[in-house]
Amino acid sequence: MGAKTKRRRKLKIAAKRRRTLERLKERAKSEWCAVQESGIHGAGVYATMLIPAGTRIIEYVGEKIDKEESERRAWAQMAQAEMTGDAAVYIFTLTDKHDLDGSVEWNTARLLNHSCDPNCETWITGKRIFIYALRDIEPGEELTFDYGFEVECWEDHPCRCGSQDCVGYIVRREDWSVLEELKRELGLERKESA
Ligand SMILES: C[S@@+](CC[C@H](N)C(=O)[O-])C[C@H]1O[C@@H](n2cnc3c(N)ncnc32)[C@H](O)[C@@H]1O
Ligand SMILES: [Zn+2]
Repeated sequence: MGAKTKRRRKLKIAAKRRRTLERLKERAKSEWCAVQESGIHGAGVYATMLIPAGTRIIEYVGEKIDKEESERRAWAQMAQAEMTGDAAVYIFTLTDKHDLDGSVEWNTARLLNHSCDPNCETWITGKRIFIYALRDIEPGEELTFDYGFEVECWEDHPCRCGSQDCVGYIVRREDWSVLEELKRELGLERKESA
């Protein structure tokens, strides 16, 4: 292949990458919400208007990576977070084989915090991840979803969602009975008011 052809091919690939990136950035936009400082943690995402139940609010975009690469990046992001004290990992499970690494500044959905009483949920539709409203959400309310973390490593993820039902740790609801048992064993159970 001649040098001219090689250069043309390189330019074509670069242009295709740029177009893909622009499309991804466009998909990541949403009128329904905006970023603000959060009472739960760091930055959060807030409703800019009344969001009716069932609304598809925003897409969680990112780079599709296989599980091996995902594991490598998760550890690297965690190590970085421990050093800087910033939020940890922006990797979202997509399928059995792939995850989405959403750690780019223009992926607003990466900033949704977890809550034990969430007002949003995530849906995977044809390899794309969307955030939907679980109920009507008032303007100015913080958008949250259940991160779905399994009970393993529960002590590493204290929850500060502030909801009445908060279980104290970022753990998916179906593991709460196991978590309560573990907390009881360690004497960490919630004290009921007399
Ligand atoms: C994907 S980030 C969410 C956005 C984050 N607030 C930020 O400013 O980057 C996930 C991290 O946010 C923090 N976080 C999210 N929900 C939380 C909660 N309910 N309680 C405490 N920390 C939370 C944890 O540090 C978690 O690792
Ligand atoms: Zn909580």
